[in-house]
Amino acid sequence: PVFPPAAEMEILFSKQQIADRTREIGAQISADYKGQSIVLIGVLKGAAIFLADLARAIQVDNTFDFVAVSSYGRARVSSGAVKLIKDIDNPIEGKHVIIVEDILDTGLTLSYLRGLMLQHKPASLKIATCLDKPERRLVPIEADYIAFKIPNQFVIGYGMDYAERYRGVEDIRIFPAEVAGH
Ligand code: PRP
Ligand code: MN
Ligand code: MG
Repeated sequence: PVFPPAAEMEILFSKQQIADRTREIGAQISADYKGQSIVLIGVLKGAAIFLADLARAIQVDNTFDFVAVSSYGRARVSSGAVKLIKDIDNPIEGKHVIIVEDILDTGLTLSYLRGLMLQHKPASLKIATCLDKPERRLVPIEADYIAFKIPNQFVIGYGMDYAERYRGVEDIRIFPAEVAGH
């Protein structure tokens, strides 16, 4: 694959815009869960960076954990076989849980994880995502906290990759369609 420099790609959301929205969502979560404890569950690897920023924007008692799921690969099959690679380390029964994602796309990952986490009988379960791409949804699922809704464009940065590259890019940028679609 070809990896053009991120600096050449159009910025969709700047580092500053992301920081502002993350702080707003952190404040909203802090108000919604006032006086309670929450468990943030990040979905590796893409959500790691959003989770790191969101956790620091939340003022209520919180812990975090991570899960990893198998990617269903580049073949966008609607069967969407998602499999758990790494489970949570600590029990969440009776806890207020928020699953944290970088992007909600077809919804296959989150609908699978949502079902799985509900089996652990949390006191409540919500979803926070940095990006939401509603046009691409294959299964009905919505997030409770969304930083930005985006059209059907391939984006990188702020945790999101193209062939594992660009996760550390600080802005969210549009990956050129002519490079992605070769
Ligand atoms: C990406 C992204 C979400 C998921 C969203 O993860 O980080 O987890 O896909 O897509 P969906 O709504 O269509 O399921 P990916 O599988 O690329 O793994 P990564 O987080 O390690 O990049
Ligand atoms: Mn992911
Ligand atoms: Mg990925």
